[in-house]
Amino acid sequence: KDEKLAESFDVYLCNEFSLPSFAIKFIQEEYETYEARNDDIYVVSYPKTGTTWLQEIVYLIHSNVDIKSALTLGLNKRFPYIEHSMTNFSEVKNMGSPRLLKTHLPYSCLPEDILQKQCKMIYITRNPRDVAVSYYHFACMLKETQYKGNFEQFFQRFYFDRTTYSPFLLHNLEFWNHRNDKNVLFLFYEDLKRDITSNLKKIAAFLDHKLSPEDLISIKEHTDFKSMAKTESTALSEDSSIGNKGSFYRKGQVGDWKNYFTQDMIQMLDDKVNEVLKDSGLQYTYEL
Ligand code: A3P
Repeated sequence: KDEKLAESFDVYLCNEFSLPSFAIKFIQEEYETYEARNDDIYVVSYPKTGTTWLQEIVYLIHSNVDIKSALTLGLNKRFPYIEHSMTNFSEVKNMGSPRLLKTHLPYSCLPEDILQKQCKMIYITRNPRDVAVSYYHFACMLKETQYKGNFEQFFQRFYFDRTTYSPFLLHNLEFWNHRNDKNVLFLFYEDLKRDITSNLKKIAAFLDHKLSPEDLISIKEHTDFKSMAKTESTALSEDSSIGNKGSFYRKGQVGDWKNYFTQDMIQMLDDKVNEVLKDSGLQYTYEL
C-alpha cells in the first residue's frame, strides 16, 4: 500500500494502476480462478466516463428491449460490477448465460480467462477534463471518500494519477491498443451524445442484434439523461456507497469542464495527453 496515495482515497497499486482496496481483494481472491464464459459481455471503463449509460443501453439491446425489467430490477443485479465489494461474487458465478458484467479494471489487470476466451468487451471513455470534473463531484458524494477538497486540489490528484483506477490515460491507451480486436468495441461518450442512433446501431451490430426503428426509439427514450435520472432502477440506490443517489446524474453534458478548468490546468493536462498519447492516434473531443 502506498501511504502517500492513501489520504482520503484508499488506493493500492497493481501494475501501474491505483486500485481501490476492494479491487485488490478481488484480484487476490478471484483473479487466478476466474472463469469467464465465451458469451460473457463486459462493459469496461475508467470511472465517470458514461459506464452506467452504456450498461443500460447494452442491457436493453441484449434483452430485446425489455423496458419492464429494466425499470424494475436494479442495474447492479442485472449487470454486476464484478470487483466491487457490494457484489456477491457467488451470485455472479451462478448467473444465467449470457452474463452482462461491468468492470473498471484496466486491460492489464483483467482476469486472464476473459482475454483467453476473447469475451466481448465494450469500452467507453470521455475527454479527461470532463472526467476530472465528474469524478470530483462523485468523490464528494461517495460515502467512502467524502472528498472535502476543492476542485483545484482534486485536479492535482487526478493529474498525478492518485484517483482510483488511474492513470486515466494509460487505462484508455491499453484498450485503444486493442480497439481493432474483433471482441473489442471502443466508444466515446461524446460520440454517443452527438449521435446516439448510429451508436446504438453500432453496439447492436457488435452484439449481433438487429434493432427495429421502434426499438431504436424506445432505447433512445429510456436511456436519455433525463429519463435515466428519474429511473429508480438505474439510480444506483442499492449502492450503499452513494451518499446522495440523486446527484449521480449530475449534468450529463460535454464541456462542463469550462466551468472548472483554469488555463493552467488545461495546459498541464494537454501537455500530459500529448506526451502519453503521442503517435497513438487517440484523440478526445472537448466540446460539441
Ligand atoms: P456528469 O458528472 O458529467 O454529469 P459513470 O456511469 O461512468 O460513473 O459516468 C457518470 C457520468 O455519466 C456522469 O457525468 C453522469 O451524469 C453521466 N451520465 C449518466 N447517464 C447518462 C445519460 N443517460 N446520458 C448522458 N450522460 C449520462
